[in-house]
Amino acid sequence: MSHTRPAAVVVLAAGEGTRMKSSVPKVLHRIGGRSLLQHALSAARGLDPERLVVVVRHERDAVAAHARAIDPDVTIADQDEIPGTGRAVQCALGALDGAAQAAAAVEGSAAGAGGVSGAVVVMAADTPLLDTATLGELLAAHQDDGNAVTVLSATVPDPYGYGRILREDGAVVGVVEERDATEEQREIREINTSTYAFDAEMLRDALGSVGQDNAQDEVYLTDVVALAARSGQGVRAISVEDPWLVEGVNDRVQLAALGAELNRRILEGWMRAGVTVVDPATTWIDLDVELGRDVTVLPGTQLYGATSVGDGSAIGPDTTLTDVRVGAGVTVSRTHGSESVLDDGATVGPFAYLRPGTRLGSDGKIGTFVETKKADIGPGAKVPHLTYVGDAEIGEGSNIGASSVFVNYDGVRKHRTTIGRHARTGSDNMFVAPVTVGDGAYTGAGTTVREDVPPGALAVSGAGQRTIRDWVLRRRPGTASAEAAEAALAQGEMSLSDQARAERAAQSRAGGGAGGPGPEHQRDERTGTTDEGDTDR
Ligand code: UD1
Ligand code: CA
Repeated sequence: MSHTRPAAVVVLAAGEGTRMKSSVPKVLHRIGGRSLLQHALSAARGLDPERLVVVVRHERDAVAAHARAIDPDVTIADQDEIPGTGRAVQCALGALDGAAQAAAAVEGSAAGAGGVSGAVVVMAADTPLLDTATLGELLAAHQDDGNAVTVLSATVPDPYGYGRILREDGAVVGVVEERDATEEQREIREINTSTYAFDAEMLRDALGSVGQDNAQDEVYLTDVVALAARSGQGVRAISVEDPWLVEGVNDRVQLAALGAELNRRILEGWMRAGVTVVDPATTWIDLDVELGRDVTVLPGTQLYGATSVGDGSAIGPDTTLTDVRVGAGVTVSRTHGSESVLDDGATVGPFAYLRPGTRLGSDGKIGTFVETKKADIGPGAKVPHLTYVGDAEIGEGSNIGASSVFVNYDGVRKHRTTIGRHARTGSDNMFVAPVTVGDGAYTGAGTTVREDVPPGALAVSGAGQRTIRDWVLRRRPGTASAEAAEAALAQGEMSLSDQARAERAAQSRAGGGAGGPGPEHQRDERTGTTDEGDTDR
């Protein structure tokens, strides 16, 4: 079965979605990384309609802007104050007729002068698993039979809340809403999915005579089915086997259930394509994610947005990546990352935070408790431990010592740090940007790099270390520290050379060594320490 191009697909998105209890319009809520409206528009666009119409009213501007952002070629039709799915379609037809007549006038042709004609597919914006294939089958059946209306139905265990398909001797004669149905009609388990193919002319005529005489005082689109049947035009319902495809979202419980089912299907697809998903129950992968062969996704991992992962990479456990491009043979463990690029063979984590603009070259490493932002880290370069790299470039093969900070913020503006190729920076360095460390340069541990370091130089900073002998013995007598020190010193005496012993004695007499601070120069009366041998033991 095949179908021709439909004249239009109409996506209904004007309803309030009150049961969501949300300030965000229902159709903008997301599952699988796409809004409900985006799922609907992408299924609809797959039919290649001449026009794709979205009917809006509630939160009109937000929904219209979102629709245009997804698909710039959509036609927005505004529903007026008259409520109901039938009125929504009437408003869509108004927009379609206007467009068809304008086109006919430009071309000077008769076709279109009477408004849109041919097949019009109508669907709700809140049925996210409905796919192009199912819409295509509906349209093909409609065109093959030459029907006036073809309804997509489903037989479900619990039909509560749906419109029921009414049949007489097997033929469809109407649809009745839950609230308007008799006890007997409520027993019917064949439901209306709110997805239809209509003949445009019949639809226009029928909607003209649909009233609002029902429990909700609305213009029901479903009434068109009975009108067409009564006038003897072809009406048929075709049933979809898989009820998930036509399940609607009315509240957040259904949103979660459909989100979980979509995820289950996405994971199954990837597993069949050669991806190992160790624990599907704790793995979430958005629809637009791309995975290579032999990728392993470990438990507790979420891959969101436009994330892609190359062949043989292992992601997780407990990792969330949003819009991250991961190459082949990459390992990313216990990491939170977004808008970043990790080239082939790179390793990240455990416990890394990749903020937007991070790029890690091939075979590079971002290690444990490392945060990066707008950081271009070259091939084979390593930032292994406890470090913040922001607004920086690190050249190929360089190594950043543990516990370093790229000090990028002066309180008002951000500045860049550049580290050259094959540099070795010591642990606990502060790179006070803007600053450059040249190719092949070294820095000592604890260096605060405020001035550029030329290629091949060693930079060290900070005052020399000052050691005040026996400070603890004098100032913290009787503490565990003092006792431990005393014991160590008593043992150490035996291994000290005569010269060292003489130096220590001289230093102690001077009251704590050259440059010692004031108070420590004073003799400590309690321990009476003036010489290493003179303790109160
Ligand atoms: C509708 C159908 C019901 C079907 C069910 C399937 C009618 C009268 N009933 O009921 O037979 O079983 O869908 O899910 O059609 N909308 C508008 N304008 C409006 C009202 C609704 O654009 O004035 C849109 C909504 O945004 C939504 C869709 O139409 O996308 C369906 O509306 P909703 O209120 O959810 O209809 P149901 O009561 O579920
Ligand atoms: Ca609904």
